[in-house]
Amino acid sequence: MKGHIVFSAAALMLIALYLKFSIPGPFLYSQHSRQMRREIMERHKDLAFFYQTLLGIKEGSPEDAMRYLEVDLEVPQTLTCKDLSHITALDYVGSGFTKVVVKGTLLNGKSIALKSVHGEGNDMKKCVRQYGDHSGCHRLATYKLQKEIALLQILRHPGIIQLHGQCDVNGAPPDIRVTAMLELGSPLEMIQLLQTPWEERFKICWELVQLLHYLANSPMGSVALLDFQPRQFVLVDGSLKVTDMDDASSEEPTCRRDADCALAFPAKTFTMTCLDTGRCAGSNEKRNLYNAYRFFFTYLLPHAAPPALRALLEDIMNVTGDLHIGINETLEAFDDVLHLYKSGRNHSQTHHLHDYTVLRGHRMNDTDGDFRCWPSYNHQGCLLSMHSAAEAAEFCNGHPQCRNFIISQQRTWTGRYLTAFTKNCLHLVPDETYSLYVKRSGHSDMQKR
Ligand SMILES: Nc1ncnc2c1ncn2[C@@H]1O[C@H](COP(=O)(O)OP(=O)(O)OP(=O)(O)O)[C@@H](O)[C@H]1O
Ligand SMILES: *[C@@H]1O[C@H](CO)[C@@H](O)[C@H](O)[C@H]1NC(C)=O
Ligand SMILES: *[C@@H]1O[C@H](CO)[C@@H](O)[C@H](O)[C@H]1NC(C)=O
Ligand SMILES: *[C@@H]1O[C@H](CO)[C@@H](O)[C@H](O)[C@H]1NC(C)=O
Ligand SMILES: *[C@@H]1O[C@H](CO)[C@@H](O)[C@H](O)[C@H]1NC(C)=O
Repeated sequence: MKGHIVFSAAALMLIALYLKFSIPGPFLYSQHSRQMRREIMERHKDLAFFYQTLLGIKEGSPEDAMRYLEVDLEVPQTLTCKDLSHITALDYVGSGFTKVVVKGTLLNGKSIALKSVHGEGNDMKKCVRQYGDHSGCHRLATYKLQKEIALLQILRHPGIIQLHGQCDVNGAPPDIRVTAMLELGSPLEMIQLLQTPWEERFKICWELVQLLHYLANSPMGSVALLDFQPRQFVLVDGSLKVTDMDDASSEEPTCRRDADCALAFPAKTFTMTCLDTGRCAGSNEKRNLYNAYRFFFTYLLPHAAPPALRALLEDIMNVTGDLHIGINETLEAFDDVLHLYKSGRNHSQTHHLHDYTVLRGHRMNDTDGDFRCWPSYNHQGCLLSMHSAAEAAEFCNGHPQCRNFIISQQRTWTGRYLTAFTKNCLHLVPDETYSLYVKRSGHSDMQKR
């Protein structure tokens, strides 16, 4: 994996020092109510646990981890507060219950996302209404962001947004302002995604399965995304990445009997086993997988799928929707689909090609416009991915309006060729990377330039 997540040791140390000195609390926290102090202690302990994991410390109390943080950490430095001070072109991107995200441009011209506590967000408002303690509430919210930052350092995967660095401006009470500097993504628009070719929708699901497989086998154990919704994901260069990690949990629910382990969703409840350890067996993995099924697979997978893959996909939908398989087998099933799709098996009937004359080294100057299909890679025409000329010929024969197709060397993520289908074929231009196929019985309204 290129460009590992790295973090600013200095910034972490600042937080560590701050947290360390704040542990006993009576002096610094005297301005807070007892209830607020208890909340802060809780969040503090929770965060300390993540720092312990981050540093890979197995022995000692989580608070000991704080002390270790003062040791010189061998981590490459990326973005720091200094970079933050040079950022320009700040613009609002989005906000949620707790955090707000803006984008900005670094000195080197790259755009990044900046995440911080949303002072006017509902989390802060609700807290202030309850405690009337603005600085205490800000601190509580900051713990959530710090937990997310720690998690982004522990969990590294192409399906998790990359942390470029962080800045802890004041580093001290009462309002510690922590900013996470992240890879910039664009929101996942489900409606838009529904209109893209099946191959692109499959890619999103396939990437999600890779991510869930990683989370189920992560360095922290099996991690559940408790708040699992499409809006917690963004696209970076067309790849799916989770951005909101403050609701991630590596603890399986505790239980005394099987009934305590019921996993309830609006449409369905799953029962699970309560292990002797007092934990529900595989609850986190199951929860993630069913959420993937209900929020992603059902919308993105079956719709307009290639006929040759339908049986396999129906099977995947069935066994994930009933949680009959775990994430490892789901990953295998997705890989099977991908291999079958790449192989072109069940597709190519070569006899269709006999109906076409091929003109290598030519393309049309304009492939937009005269024949539409859906869902196409372009809006005006019919641009699809094809395994081979034979498959393209079969498709063209199946559509009365289609008379020509042009295969380019441009490939999709699965390695299939982008192919444009047209009705008329008017203006040819030489281009050696293309091959033009013309139906033999077709119109003879073709001219060479
Ligand atoms: N790296 C990013 N690039 C682009 N947009 C992002 C990025 N991270 C987050 N966003 C956007 O900002 C919004 C708020 O971020 P985030 O989900 O972390 O906040 P939150 O307060 O935890 O939200 P929620 O209430 O959904 O839990 C997200 O819904 C997303 O649209
Ligand atoms: C695809 O091929 C497999 C064997 O490779 C076969 O079992 C299956 O029925 C075929 N499906 C279609 C839709 O042709
Ligand atoms: C899976 O298939 C079985 C048998 O056909 C059916 O009863 C069940 O409802 C299906 N489950 C899902 C989630 O589609
Ligand atoms: C799933 O796969 C991972 C490695 O890819 C392996 O470590 C783990 O034991 C597997 N889990 C199960 C339940 O088979
Ligand atoms: C293609 O060529 C025709 C005729 O020369 C011209 O009218 C048309 O605008 C061209 N299209 C593009 C996209 O260049």
